[in-house]
Amino acid sequence: MKPSVGLIGLGLMGKPMGRNLLRAGFPLTVWNRTASRAEELVRAGATRAANPRDAAAHADVLITIVSDPPALEEVLFGENGALGGLRPGSALVDSSTVSPELARRVARSCGERGVEFLDAPVTGGTWGAEKGELVFMIGGPGETLERVKPVLGAMGRRFFHLGPHGAGQTIKLGMNLLLALQVDALAESLALVTSAGVPAERLIEVMQASMGRSPLLDVKAPLILHGEFPASFPLRLMLKDMRLALEMGRQHGVTLPTLSAAAATYAEVQEGSHDDPDFAAVARFWKKS
Ligand SMILES: NC(=O)c1ccc[n+]([C@@H]2O[C@H](COP(=O)([O-])OP(=O)(O)OC[C@H]3O[C@@H](n4cnc5c(N)ncnc54)[C@H](OP(=O)(O)O)[C@@H]3O)[C@@H](O)[C@H]2O)c1
Repeated sequence: MKPSVGLIGLGLMGKPMGRNLLRAGFPLTVWNRTASRAEELVRAGATRAANPRDAAAHADVLITIVSDPPALEEVLFGENGALGGLRPGSALVDSSTVSPELARRVARSCGERGVEFLDAPVTGGTWGAEKGELVFMIGGPGETLERVKPVLGAMGRRFFHLGPHGAGQTIKLGMNLLLALQVDALAESLALVTSAGVPAERLIEVMQASMGRSPLLDVKAPLILHGEFPASFPLRLMLKDMRLALEMGRQHGVTLPTLSAAAATYAEVQEGSHDDPDFAAVARFWKKS
């Protein structure tokens, strides 16, 4: 018998993850704050939970993938929160990107209830979520990972066990620091070249010839060149991760000057954006009149 799975958070990432869990034959119970976003999965065979606690009560393995730390705190510790519903012996896997500190707090609360926990943020974006090819960064006991791997295997293809609770979130924030800076640097460089009268496409061509192909040049550069930013990884979420990384730096006494400067640029663009663009829209910083 396949374990029953609960899934909380049906946004850009959670919904395709749910589709893959159903395709793999797991009995699935779902909950999303905006109920209408659950309809597609319910039509495909998922059961709709009344609240996070209800979703947890039905689950051998509960997966959460919500926006940010306040959202995770709300669905776990809030009124009718999932922690109140989880049965001893069940497992909670949080795939949201939050602070390592919050991951450790959730681990302690789970431990008090006899519930196993992994912080398991993901990379691979919406494309990886659709294809079931996410990469999981895991913090927590190796035995728990082995136990939940058949479930995670419906959504991902690689699992990095990185250390104790919080280690998965630590690596995820380090990774997003790098991605945020790369895209910011690319946009800055393109703005400089364009302002000097040379077509920006030429810089990409030369970079591709010298460095080979990469998601930065193949996926993000065309968005910047065309000035169109349909959200795959929304800028608001990247800015959230940059702020989480800055907070982590403060806690560990590490100054992050490049990240601080880039976060100010992203924040300015976020404030001026009336849509919900991809983080490549940081390029709008240089389009101001
Ligand atoms: N998009 C990516 O490419 C990507 C890649 C890797 C990791 N991630 C991470 O994965 C997580 C989810 O990302 P996403 O792209 O799926 O985000 P999203 O499309 O914005 O979805 C966010 C989800 O969180 C829920 N939520 C937000 N605030 C809540 C609250 N206070 N209480 C309950 N639910 C709340 C939303 O519910 P509603 O529907 O009601 O708004 C929605 O289900 C984030 O931590 C993100 O950093 C994203």
